[in-house]
Amino acid sequence: MFLSELMYYSIANEDITDEDLDNILEVARNANKERNVTGALLLYHGFFIQCVEGHRDILNQLYSSIIHDARHCDVRLLRFRTIEERTFDQWSMAKADSSRITDSLTLHYSPDKTFNPALMTPEQLYRMLARLLR
Ligand SMILES: Cc1cc2nc3c(=O)[nH]c(=O)nc-3n(C[C@H](O)[C@H](O)[C@H](O)COP(=O)(O)O)c2cc1C
Repeated sequence: MFLSELMYYSIANEDITDEDLDNILEVARNANKERNVTGALLLYHGFFIQCVEGHRDILNQLYSSIIHDARHCDVRLLRFRTIEERTFDQWSMAKADSSRITDSLTLHYSPDKTFNPALMTPEQLYRMLARLLR
């Protein structure tokens, strides 16, 4: 089935730590490698933003697991589309470095300098994520 991309954002649990994030990433990287899934994950201002790329059916299954994961809630699907090529092909799951986010970077992609994914289009979130990996 076609190469696809799925993006969502969610509200991270209030008590989530850096260690929890590293744990999510380690498990995700191992599982994703097995299934030819690539992508990037950002934890910022209490939100997770994730983009995953791979076989459409695999992404569908992965999303079903992710939405039931107790480490976050209110998972909002941003888009699920076929793509011609991967953006995050170097990473089984990249950690987008939130310390690189500045007011001016946020303002570049959104109407306000306070980061709020609800005010951003899927394309803006995707571009910001990709920018943090360059
Ligand atoms: C924010 C977030 C991102 C995640 N990303 C992935 C991922 O990219 N790949 C993955 O296999 N699991 C990921 N997980 C973990 C899954 O939610 C789930 O724990 C894992 O797939 C095992 O699911 P299962 O018990 O249904 O097999 C993520 C979890 C969270 C909270």
